[in-house]
Amino acid sequence: MTGRREAANEDRAKGGLMTQMDSPPRPKTAAGPVVGKPIDRVDGRAKTSGQARFATEYPYPGLAYAALVHATIARGRVTGFDVAGAAAVPGVLAVLTHENAPRMKPPPRATLMNMGMILIGTSVNYLNTDEVHWNGQPVAVVVAETLEAAREAAGLVRVTYREFPATVDFAAEEEHAVPLKGNPLMRGTAKKGDAETALEAAPVSVDLRFTTPPLNHNAIEPHATTAVWDGDRLTVHEGTQGSTMLRAHLAARFDVPEASVRVISPYVGGAFGGKGPVWAGTLLTVLASRATGRPVRMMLTREGVYRTVGGRSPSIQRVALGAEADGRLTAIIHTGVTSTGRVGGLPESVTAPSGHLYAAPNILLRHSLVELDLLPNTFMRAPGEAPGTFALEAAVDELAYELGMDPIALRMRNEPETNPIDGKRFSHRLLREAYAYGAQRFGWADRTPEPGSMRDGPWLVGMGVATAHHGSMRFTANVTVRLSADGSVLVRCGLQEVGVGAVTVQAQIAADALGVPFEAVRVEYGDSTLPAGSGAGASAQTVSVAASLLTACDKLKRKVRALGGSGSYAEILTRAGKDHVEAAVGSQTRLGALAGQARFIAKFLRDHRRWVKAGCGAQFCEVRVDPDTGEIRVSRWLGVFDVGRVINAKTAASQLRGGIVMGIGMALSEETLVDPRTGRIMNPSLAEYHVPVHADIPPIDVHYLDEPDPTMPLGLLGLGEIGVTGVAAAIANAVHHATGKRVYDLPITLDKLL
Ligand code: MOS
Repeated sequence: MTGRREAANEDRAKGGLMTQMDSPPRPKTAAGPVVGKPIDRVDGRAKTSGQARFATEYPYPGLAYAALVHATIARGRVTGFDVAGAAAVPGVLAVLTHENAPRMKPPPRATLMNMGMILIGTSVNYLNTDEVHWNGQPVAVVVAETLEAAREAAGLVRVTYREFPATVDFAAEEEHAVPLKGNPLMRGTAKKGDAETALEAAPVSVDLRFTTPPLNHNAIEPHATTAVWDGDRLTVHEGTQGSTMLRAHLAARFDVPEASVRVISPYVGGAFGGKGPVWAGTLLTVLASRATGRPVRMMLTREGVYRTVGGRSPSIQRVALGAEADGRLTAIIHTGVTSTGRVGGLPESVTAPSGHLYAAPNILLRHSLVELDLLPNTFMRAPGEAPGTFALEAAVDELAYELGMDPIALRMRNEPETNPIDGKRFSHRLLREAYAYGAQRFGWADRTPEPGSMRDGPWLVGMGVATAHHGSMRFTANVTVRLSADGSVLVRCGLQEVGVGAVTVQAQIAADALGVPFEAVRVEYGDSTLPAGSGAGASAQTVSVAASLLTACDKLKRKVRALGGSGSYAEILTRAGKDHVEAAVGSQTRLGALAGQARFIAKFLRDHRRWVKAGCGAQFCEVRVDPDTGEIRVSRWLGVFDVGRVINAKTAASQLRGGIVMGIGMALSEETLVDPRTGRIMNPSLAEYHVPVHADIPPIDVHYLDEPDPTMPLGLLGLGEIGVTGVAAAIANAVHHATGKRVYDLPITLDKLL
């Protein structure tokens, strides 16, 4: 990992592209001694030594275990249960169904103001209804003295149904897709000029159809909950992306004040969007505890995650590009169909990236949706932009071949000055630099353009590129900072550490903001009793918390200065007879928080009317393809990213690398198979749903340009998700370069090359 400056120097020394394409100097904000450094994560030791306690590792006296019973029809009503077999299993405490379970409130409606409530997962009021909305929906819960008894008994519950016709075949529903209006932040539907006419008139064009399959979440830690009721007080241990939001949701569903609910969530074994919404397992563990009066733990099986936690929507996409003979684009058409469940889900905005990446006088984006009787889809790392950049960036590559142009040169010819779809200014965009530096470092000049022209022994070798892109977001976050007379600093914020280094970077920021050593800072996090964090999502947590943290540190410094005198903080405080000084940002009252949220949203939207803010990057990959078997090995990877300022060189590199690994899975092996007759997921296990393993992953070289964005706090654009974008296209493009075959339907399995 090197920063941009080193990169530029190295490049200058080699007389590379970088110097010619370097952008004018940009404003910098002062970085202290800690920000930017590759600091080890503060939770690293606890995790690697087994001391970190995850949701299922809290002992409680009298702890009981729960297991789910899943529906085996896609749509209908439960007509009856036979629980005799289950109840007879030794140790079974209860078999809960809609006939005997305690009542829950239905999920609240999602609004912009209750951002947390958007994360409802599904609208089903589990075990409070006889309705079945997808094949796999939980219809009963068994609670037992042991995990084994609970799972055995769950397998013995017999359920009868009245079945209704169900719509479960995504591909078959394409023609019934309903066009969406789009939203101001992710404009998946937009129009400029007349793209269809321009496409017809274009001397060179491509008009392509791509498909991507549904994908499932596979965090190492399956979704798991420990729930304990004490009267009307509820304690929940769970790995979540938003402990504050989970608290609000549980309070609403179980009809108790928010103050009666505590969510404890310091460690999360991977989340990726799948632990943002509230799913059945969480609710039913809490329900089971309420019903039995016992602390209850439920750890979903891997299959349980597939049946109850949404994943990525499938997509069908058309990308048509028209160009002049010199490569200048005249038309961009990107239309896409994705799905949601009838009981929830979100439009995965696959067409949105095409509004940002290339200058063209005529652009048409249209996003349509089909509703299916399936488990609703949900957020998965770079929703929209991961599958969207696959189609767009593979189409651009194909156009480059049609034009006889280098794919990077084609991209640079069409690099826009302003946001293509609406002319708004980019707050920041160093895509030219990313490609220039990447091309030189990767050895792009060694590539012979003709497909199938590069070999290494028996292997066909291919090199491909694609653009990465991810929009920047920000949310509200409340933070308190305390400075003690012993010189130590305590930051308190209910932020979530989903395994990314989120806590470590806030400690770095606080250290530099207050001018104290990194070791002097401690962060309390992952607990809903702390000031509400932003939640870990949309690659926005670090910037959201950092903005409040910086303000709090400023306030704190003013308070200390007001005490008068000189010397170290410790000296000033001691002289003033103070044990500590504290500063808070954000409202601690509910009404105050709502007003704050309204002000924030208004300001945020104003800001986004002026600027388009996004990270971008260049993905370079090399593949080797066995011409006899079609086996594809990714042999080299380089990602060069423009993500604004980087707080921690080590954890940032891990994030970007992890995204690329996820993209390799998406490109080559991951696919949820849904039975088109029954709507049942057919491969709900890691044995049949193939995530990449170490042997699939080459050395991944990641670089960032490290130029702060001038409009974002600390110059941060966010980097949790961008790594996955463009990856599948870079691989598809490299496979085409190796073999002359272009695969339009993910995953690119070997059978598609033979
Ligand atoms: Mo992320 S997909 O916003 O958790």
